[in-house]
Amino acid sequence: MLKKIFSFVLLWPMVSFAQNIIPQPVNLSVGQGFFLIDGNTALKFDVGNKEMKDVVELFSASIGAISGIPLAAEGKSKTISFNLIKNETLGKEGYELNVSPSAIAINANSSAGIFYATQSLLQTLPAVRTNAPLQIPCMILTDYPRFSWRGMHLDVSRHFFSPELIKEYIDLMAMYKMNIFHWHLVDDQGWRIEIKKYPKLTEVGAWRVDQTNINWRERKTAKEGEIPSYGGFYTQDQIKEIVAYAQQRNITIVPEIEMPGHSAAAIASYPELSCSQKPQLPLTGGDYTNASANFCAGNDESFAFLQDVLSEVIALFPSAYVHIGGDEVEKGPWKKCERCQARIKSENLKNEEELQSYFIRRIEKFLIGKNRKMIGWDEILEGGLAPDATVMSWRGEAGGIEAAKMNHDVVMTPGVPCYFDHYQGDPATEPFAIGGFNTLKRVYDYEPVPKELNDDQAKYVLGAQANLWTEFVTTAEHVEYMVLPRMLALAEVIWSPKSTRDWTGFNYRIQSHFRSFEQKGLHYSKGNFKVDIKPVLKNAKLQASLFTEAFNGEIFYTIDGSAPTPSSKKYSSNINIDSSLTIKAVAVVDGKVMTTKAAEQSFVIHKAFARDVVYLNQPSKYYQADGPNSLTDGVRGTTSFGKYWHAFNGQDMVATIDLGEKKKIHQISIGCLQSYHDWIFMPQRVKFEVSNDGKKFREIETVNNSMSVDTKNQTIKDFASSFKARKVKFVRITVTNLGVCPKGHSGEGKPAWLFADEIIVR
Ligand code: ACM
Ligand code: ZN
Repeated sequence: MLKKIFSFVLLWPMVSFAQNIIPQPVNLSVGQGFFLIDGNTALKFDVGNKEMKDVVELFSASIGAISGIPLAAEGKSKTISFNLIKNETLGKEGYELNVSPSAIAINANSSAGIFYATQSLLQTLPAVRTNAPLQIPCMILTDYPRFSWRGMHLDVSRHFFSPELIKEYIDLMAMYKMNIFHWHLVDDQGWRIEIKKYPKLTEVGAWRVDQTNINWRERKTAKEGEIPSYGGFYTQDQIKEIVAYAQQRNITIVPEIEMPGHSAAAIASYPELSCSQKPQLPLTGGDYTNASANFCAGNDESFAFLQDVLSEVIALFPSAYVHIGGDEVEKGPWKKCERCQARIKSENLKNEEELQSYFIRRIEKFLIGKNRKMIGWDEILEGGLAPDATVMSWRGEAGGIEAAKMNHDVVMTPGVPCYFDHYQGDPATEPFAIGGFNTLKRVYDYEPVPKELNDDQAKYVLGAQANLWTEFVTTAEHVEYMVLPRMLALAEVIWSPKSTRDWTGFNYRIQSHFRSFEQKGLHYSKGNFKVDIKPVLKNAKLQASLFTEAFNGEIFYTIDGSAPTPSSKKYSSNINIDSSLTIKAVAVVDGKVMTTKAAEQSFVIHKAFARDVVYLNQPSKYYQADGPNSLTDGVRGTTSFGKYWHAFNGQDMVATIDLGEKKKIHQISIGCLQSYHDWIFMPQRVKFEVSNDGKKFREIETVNNSMSVDTKNQTIKDFASSFKARKVKFVRITVTNLGVCPKGHSGEGKPAWLFADEIIVR
């Protein structure tokens, strides 16, 4: 008899692995007993069906890899049968599984559904070879996806990744039933696909001067004579093999050939295609000085070139969709170009936005002629959307909403939470990332259909996708780390019914996947195990509240500077902050410290604590910290500068504090931050003044900065003045901004940021 399991809470952790399937199946009833895969197990399928044969062979090879058991085709007492049926509910990718002790029946409308059934079965088995018996729990399962576009993107231009890594990425996607691999093959910093007609694309465009040891944003334009040695590309033979590999795993590869912008690598190869037609070297990183990144829209050669390239691309990729980029086109060069301006005239276009639209429409017409559909980033809406275009919404959801309302298909991939190049945990404990913050939970909470769309419009949402840009991701291990475990959350969002979404249940299930990652040696982020330390300021009383997303996580902490362990004090409720101290905290699951690095937060209690601060120039609206009195809230800033700092862009900070009554003080200080790559610099100097009436101020001291503007490591430094104790009522601090970013900096001459976290009066 089969028993429906309604609650994980009652049965976990005794429940079988069937309950741990990610993405959560539509309908799963787990029964008693197991089907044991052993030497007596045969596989039954239509050997004349090539696609089916491929799927069964993959399954058989996976079983062989974890057990060494060879599965026979017939003559055994127990069978696993693979059956093509007709069942409308299941659709193209759905499947049914019926597992009893004597047989497993897999039913689906297509080999895609059969493949997904095998992926669900494999998730119930050990991840690597062990001596454990291969027991598949008895169950009845019906499953099919909510969305048809379940995408993962990978940028191989900013860093080239080997064909082996691409296959590994495809394997990971397939395991979690993702079905579109958006392969970002070209961009400004590298062209990665062999095009027979234009060999220089890979002879020149695939190689750049190696500046990997320099922060992406600080890299300089390569100089004549430097050897371009860093890069790589995929030959057409390699691409064919990868396409076939993906196809066997129900993954369609959507190739992206960027145009009309983000094309500096192509232009380095064929400079005659830009507006300036000047020679250039491939970009080394984020410096675009003197580089052309656009194709000239007034030159018919640009279109002839792109059509030739696309013809070869189409021959390699069977995908219905071709992605043509279209994002972030800097229109300046078109404004200055005679040919582009002539095109605007001859085509009766209003401006450069319409010129971009002309460009994209012309390419779409070509693709439609080749029986393909065009997809592009949401900028293709500007200047008018091409007639049949599909829009990939990345700058938030607005582009997707607009396009769906115009009855165009859309794929949702908004920066929050779909950009997997953003941090997934506390930046202090994570590998350096481009910025932003998309945690596992944020991804899990994502709803791909924006609430602005009605039911009819919602049908245009094909699905969602995560993007991994690789400016700061250079190794295969790091690629794994950025997608694991967030891809599992997204997979569930886009496969499983909205009604079954359950964060707690997901957390139960993901535990066994973490164990699999560890067994397979896959790198994954434990950012989910971070501890958040949040100040709570109420009625001039300061407390700290600690929190972790980690499932079954307990928090242990110290306040004496020592490293927290499971024997430290266990957190139960808000901690009172009555004196200056630093809290260090870790998340512990089953007695094991899970946090990579302890969370740390310093607090200071001092004579200006909780007093009002009056500013001459208001702090930037982007850095409000926790309100107007953040400089006296007792909370110190950390190098994760999004929190607890007030910031001033190009301006000085002049802050006055009324201590409420005359107080005897002997020291005033202010904490400042330098974060060179973020345009944040130490001030030039800090002037400390005191007063008794708030009108006439007397200078105590001006402290000059002693740190070099070129110091690249993030540094927090207190500027302090100590003096003979005196009684004062007012304190004024004037902090002189560096003004502009220094010579040689990527923001040279542009306003510098000044960051301050706390004015401490002792
Ligand atoms: C993009 O992130 N520029 C599509
Ligand atoms: Zn031009």
